[in-house]
Amino acid sequence: MITGAYPATRLRRNRQSAWMRSLVAEHVLSSHDLIMPFFVQEGVEKRDAIAAMPDVYRLSIDELIQEAEKAYHLGIPAIALFPVVEKSLKSEQAEEAYNPDNLLSRSVKAVKKALPELGIICDVALDPYTTHGHDGIWEAGDVANDKTLEVLCQQAITCAWAGCDMVAPSDMMDGRVGVIRQALDEAGFQKVAILAYAAKYASAFYGPFRHAVGSASNLGKADKRTYQMNPANSEEALREVALDIAEGADIVMVKPAMPYLDIISRVKTRFEIPVFAYQVSGEYAMLKIAAAHNLFDYQTTMLESLLSCKRAGANAIFTYAAMEIAEWLRDQNPVI
Ligand code: PBG
Repeated sequence: MITGAYPATRLRRNRQSAWMRSLVAEHVLSSHDLIMPFFVQEGVEKRDAIAAMPDVYRLSIDELIQEAEKAYHLGIPAIALFPVVEKSLKSEQAEEAYNPDNLLSRSVKAVKKALPELGIICDVALDPYTTHGHDGIWEAGDVANDKTLEVLCQQAITCAWAGCDMVAPSDMMDGRVGVIRQALDEAGFQKVAILAYAAKYASAFYGPFRHAVGSASNLGKADKRTYQMNPANSEEALREVALDIAEGADIVMVKPAMPYLDIISRVKTRFEIPVFAYQVSGEYAMLKIAAAHNLFDYQTTMLESLLSCKRAGANAIFTYAAMEIAEWLRDQNPVI
């Protein structure tokens, strides 16, 4: 006789009511798990829609402060800022990336002044600033790793100087976490944390983001496969994560999220370090646009996809839906 089997054991018993399902739930999603990315642009009272990302806007700094305030009051712990850099400021060598008065620096300062308790995360990568749209310095048909590192260090220090709490290298150059840590420390920014985009894949799911920041036309038909990871690999992701931890990363990130849940899970199982997931622009757009065509309900599908990241082992999730979902969670009737 098999003990514990049907009919004595009926797994449906624990699913019979909302209150019971709630008590036995292994994972929950709360607004405290979410990081809201914002696109910031020059100007005043500007709020421009992004065709590829419904309900996401390019905001001028004044509008950004209003939105950041909403995020803060929804219990979202941190925001990530992405500048939409004017064409005339882009260059081969990305000098604008470390201009202390650039759009990103001014945005960070303004948000910190208005909301000192809200965490600010800044991307470290050169793609918003380069005429060719690559994340580093372009030389002889490829991104030059070590030359790029020098500029990334300057960019990270500029972000820290403006007041950001966490820098997030998203460039995938070899050795960047170590040199950025050293540069930050030497400049007196020991408290600024490094969130390493440790396993960042060369993903087509970034398409809408590149339209949002205007790097798509710069990049043209080129791709980032000589530095971002091959979607075919997972062992290599573990090596990337191990190196970033050894170099001083405080948190590691896997990106994109839903197509790479296996990577999140393996990283979480292997390493004792906080792991974040980035639900990228293409993932957001798929859910948003399909829901707009009544293929399914937006909030429940979005919640399910974010919950899948938590189940896989993510401690927190970057998502363009952070504020919508936080509002929705707040307005849900409590189960009991
Ligand atoms: C820049 C960067 C990208 C994203 C975040 N930082 C684009 C890229 O690597 O081409 C993508 C985010 C998204 O798609 O939501 N290095």
